[in-house]
Amino acid sequence: MIFVTGGGGFIGANFVLDWIAETSEPVVNLDKLTYAGNLENLAALDGDARHIFVRGDICDRSTVDRLLQTHRPRAMVHFAAESHVDRSIHGPGEFMRTNVEGTFTLLEAARAYWSGLTGAERDGFRFLHVSTDEVYGSLGPSDPPFAETNPYEPNSPYSASKAASDHLVRAWHHTYGLPVLTTNCSNNYGPYQFPEKLIPLVIANALAGKPLPIYGDGMNVRDWLYVADHCAAIRAVLARGRCGETYNIGGWNEMPNLTIVRTICALLDELQPGANGPYEQLITYVTDRPGHDRRYAIDARKIESELGWRPAETFETGIRKTVRWYLDHQDWVTHVQSGAYRDWVNKNYGGRE
Ligand code: NAD
Ligand code: DAU
Repeated sequence: MIFVTGGGGFIGANFVLDWIAETSEPVVNLDKLTYAGNLENLAALDGDARHIFVRGDICDRSTVDRLLQTHRPRAMVHFAAESHVDRSIHGPGEFMRTNVEGTFTLLEAARAYWSGLTGAERDGFRFLHVSTDEVYGSLGPSDPPFAETNPYEPNSPYSASKAASDHLVRAWHHTYGLPVLTTNCSNNYGPYQFPEKLIPLVIANALAGKPLPIYGDGMNVRDWLYVADHCAAIRAVLARGRCGETYNIGGWNEMPNLTIVRTICALLDELQPGANGPYEQLITYVTDRPGHDRRYAIDARKIESELGWRPAETFETGIRKTVRWYLDHQDWVTHVQSGAYRDWVNKNYGGRE
């Protein structure tokens, strides 16, 4: 059995679904179900004894201790976080609590649990921390992509909180010998992504005939990875990664935001043409995100050479699957666009010209 945190969110839910399909190994899934967590993502596992869902907070040490003692997992895979950069700008407090204090709480609980293990159980135990490429800061146009050796230069409250959590994980390995692994991944896209992030937001707005907000000049670059490829990479790191190491995960797929948005518009024009002409007409330039990182790119050669992982999807195949998924799951989008979501849209986009 493995212990997953944040398995009700976008990547966590994809991971749990793929994990059970690929390995059949049971999962205990601890998730607070914030606005970003949604049990509907895991509906395919209803009644499946291999998935034990527990609603709770990773900052609650007694809950984490109880779950470790009851289920005695061989590994922990830590996804739970506040994950949206714009929200971290409007309200950084929750990011410090969940991302920093929550990771600290899990590390201390893991250390106590692991210290009580012996023999093969102790040798085999792993704590895998899921992190982001944003900890490395922003690249210039001709800089080489981020390698695992790049210095940390986080620029947003979100990336600073993730950087802090990465440092805690590193320290728990060096000081206490906790068998940790850290992954730093680029931008994910795919099914079940909350429509506050660029790709699902653009799909949802286009279908609703609303503006497609482009921050700044639209030339900020991200390296996009289909979520199932990220899940496969995490499985590879958990199975064969070296303790104490970090692994960068990316799609070898750098693209400016404007290209992403235009690609989505073209796919929607093909799959569900709008009544009022091409969706591109909805593109609207708005005030930039404060401190907006210009470019991220990942050098994913280490995970490829050590663990044999490479992404299976190209952006063309992955984005087509993603647009198709959102078209086929409009009820899911409607459900997550609750009153609280509408408040967020007013807060984030209301003040932008
Ligand atoms: P998400 O926001 O979709 O999901 C986060 C999940 O964590 C939700 O289910 C939420 O309910 C849960 N959660 C939040 N606070 C919690 C708490 N205190 N206790 C328990 N559960 C809590 O996030 P995501 O996009 O799926 O990202 C998952 C992880 O991957 C994060 O650690 C993120 O930093 C990292 N990551 C994300 C991306 C990306 O592109 N989305 C890329 C690289 C790394
Ligand atoms: O790089 C990995 C990170 O990718 C993860 O660690 C984060 O959890 C995840 O949210 C994501 O961060 P970004 O800030 O890159 O993702 P987001 O989808 O918010 O924005 C992608 C790009 O699109 C970014 O340059 C900002 C821009 N953008 C975003 C939104 C929501 C817009 O132009 N308009 C928008 O409305």
